[in-house]
Amino acid sequence: MKGLILSGGKGTRLRPLTFTRAKQLIPIANKPNLFYGIDDLITAGITNIGVIISPDTGNEVVSAISEFYADTADFTYIVQDEPKGLAHAVMTARDFLDSDSFVMYLGDNLLSGGITHLVDEYNRGGSDGIVLLTQVENPSQFGVVVLGDDGSIKQLIEKPVNPPSNWALVGIYLFSPKIHDMTSKLSPSQRGEYEITDAIQNLVDDGYTVKAHKVDGWWKDTGKPEDLLDANRLVLSQIKSNVAGEVADSDLSGNIVIELGAKVINSSIRGPAHVASGAVVENSYIGPYTSIGKNCRITDSEVEFSILLNDAVICNIFGRIDASIIGMGAEVVGNSTRKNSIRFVLGDRSQITL
Ligand code: TTP
Repeated sequence: MKGLILSGGKGTRLRPLTFTRAKQLIPIANKPNLFYGIDDLITAGITNIGVIISPDTGNEVVSAISEFYADTADFTYIVQDEPKGLAHAVMTARDFLDSDSFVMYLGDNLLSGGITHLVDEYNRGGSDGIVLLTQVENPSQFGVVVLGDDGSIKQLIEKPVNPPSNWALVGIYLFSPKIHDMTSKLSPSQRGEYEITDAIQNLVDDGYTVKAHKVDGWWKDTGKPEDLLDANRLVLSQIKSNVAGEVADSDLSGNIVIELGAKVINSSIRGPAHVASGAVVENSYIGPYTSIGKNCRITDSEVEFSILLNDAVICNIFGRIDASIIGMGAEVVGNSTRKNSIRFVLGDRSQITL
């Protein structure tokens, strides 16, 4: 079985962060989002992995994967000229996928518990596809599935205006090579994309078995800033404490990772929180569900429920930075006499003075 990770797309909903980076490389608990999917594939024994990349951000995705995974898996990079849909990504990867079954994993998705059980079930046979479903409050933003009384898939509709159910398709799919016969019959949908929901509908209509699995734990699609923060919260909720860095005159409570080379001085940290190597936290308060990237500097400030990308600087913010995403190398400087309580998404290398 092969893996196909989708790391193309435009990422418009995550601007300004995606003006300067692939959205799949935004870190969740200090690890690029994309790596969670890759790790799930490798853990399930899948080491022949195709990666769909875009012409704009492909190079940085290739560098990040090559640097981190070195010899752990075989990666084939496949450029998708334009993000013309999930089924279009499968069509673009046709040569790589050849006659193998595969797991397609959207590069901005996270799933608790991994995919090994799904791969095992697929390998036991009896289906040409397995899809994952979860109930959502806003089904019109998803591919929606109508299930029969016996749990079988009756109908799939992409982003319906009047959703017939609240069962949404999760961005992780297992397919036999039969899917290629179905994608080859597709034409673009009303929104101009080749839809994977239509390809799966074709499988169902042609009498092939597609199994629907309901997600047991949590699943997250990090398309929007609030989803990134929630994914960060969910992943941090599962960390175990590991304080390898230097801590002086500080008070730590809850599960906290402080990597070797990080420093926490005269500060208070309430976990779960993750402080990456080279970061320095001084005279500050760090609240729950905060990830602080490599070489960040937080001085005389309060930060909680936030993601700081590498090299971000925060200084003199006493009102508290909350539910925020601070881009790589961005600087936020406040006036320590004022109570500035703020929430924002700041692009890489931006600077603000409050
Ligand atoms: P989406 O979130 O649907 O699309 P997007 O990344 O373009 O974001 P936005 O809607 O904010 O502009 O994509 C889901 C995942 O699939 C994401 O990791 C990007 C990837 N993708 C491709 O690789 N190729 C494609 O043609 C599409 C549509 C998405």
